[in-house]
Amino acid sequence: MKVIDSISALRDTVNTWRRNGETVGFVPTMGNLHDGHLKLVKKAKAHNDKVVVSIFVNPMQFGANEDLDAYPRTIEEDKAKLISVGADAVFLPSVAEMYPAGLDAQTFVEVPGISDSHCGASRPGHFRGVATVVTKLFNMVQPDDAFFGEKDFQQLQVIRALARDLSMAVKVHGVPTERETSGLAMSSRNGYLTDAEKATASAIFAEMQRLKAGIESGNTNFVELENIMVSNLEAKGFKKDYCQVVNAATFEPASDSDKELVLLVAMFMGKTRLIDNMQITRD
Ligand code: PAJ
Repeated sequence: MKVIDSISALRDTVNTWRRNGETVGFVPTMGNLHDGHLKLVKKAKAHNDKVVVSIFVNPMQFGANEDLDAYPRTIEEDKAKLISVGADAVFLPSVAEMYPAGLDAQTFVEVPGISDSHCGASRPGHFRGVATVVTKLFNMVQPDDAFFGEKDFQQLQVIRALARDLSMAVKVHGVPTERETSGLAMSSRNGYLTDAEKATASAIFAEMQRLKAGIESGNTNFVELENIMVSNLEAKGFKKDYCQVVNAATFEPASDSDKELVLLVAMFMGKTRLIDNMQITRD
């Protein structure tokens, strides 16, 4: 596996592959890799001749009071994991390589509408940071295919929209959420939790399943279902950020006539913010 830290070396590597007629898959990450990330790399490997993974803790997508400095950095372990799943190159740029003019002077990309609600409302500027860094990375790698987790459902929709709106050639793929056996969605931020908190956190998945079953059995009182879920989780010590059933395309609150829904959840366990979601189809 090639370890690359400059944009020029990345371009050289990808250009060599392309001259040989090989396709390129891309998996952007912030590192501290777990089986969810590795699932994306395996998908990319199955789909493309060569796979580039980026590891960059992107300061532009963290708010002033968020965990940028505390975010886990485990580069050596990450490299070993990437070798084990057959990644062809890992791109590890510095902040100066990514933002040579500094963050304040940086041109940005913003996807209107879908970026404003839920995680966008709780974390102002977050999706601008994500959309900007992903656009830059797409321009650097110029992949045929890029792979993102459904775990971050709103992020996936933001990236689909930006690729469409900016006429990018890349095909964006969504990959289902990888979970612990307890049901807890794998996340680098789970490392902030104690074992006891982790055990409690699996209640998010159980409650999502309960709510989904309620809708599938014909209940359309979405707000009541959400309120029950929130009070069950609050009883276990969670604090709500948001918990809402929305139209999967518009992110507007679900209505009776909607068929494709998604339950979007963000809960605090102490200072740790956990997000999850579940897609629900009504027939
Ligand atoms: P990060 O949180 O490291 O996630 C990298 C990719 O892994 C994202 O596409 C995310 O949705 C996916 N992922 C995380 N946990 C997953 C799980 N349990 N199952 C499946 N996929 C999972 O998301 C980011 O980084 C950043 O915002 C990034 C897109 C790299 C831009 O900086």
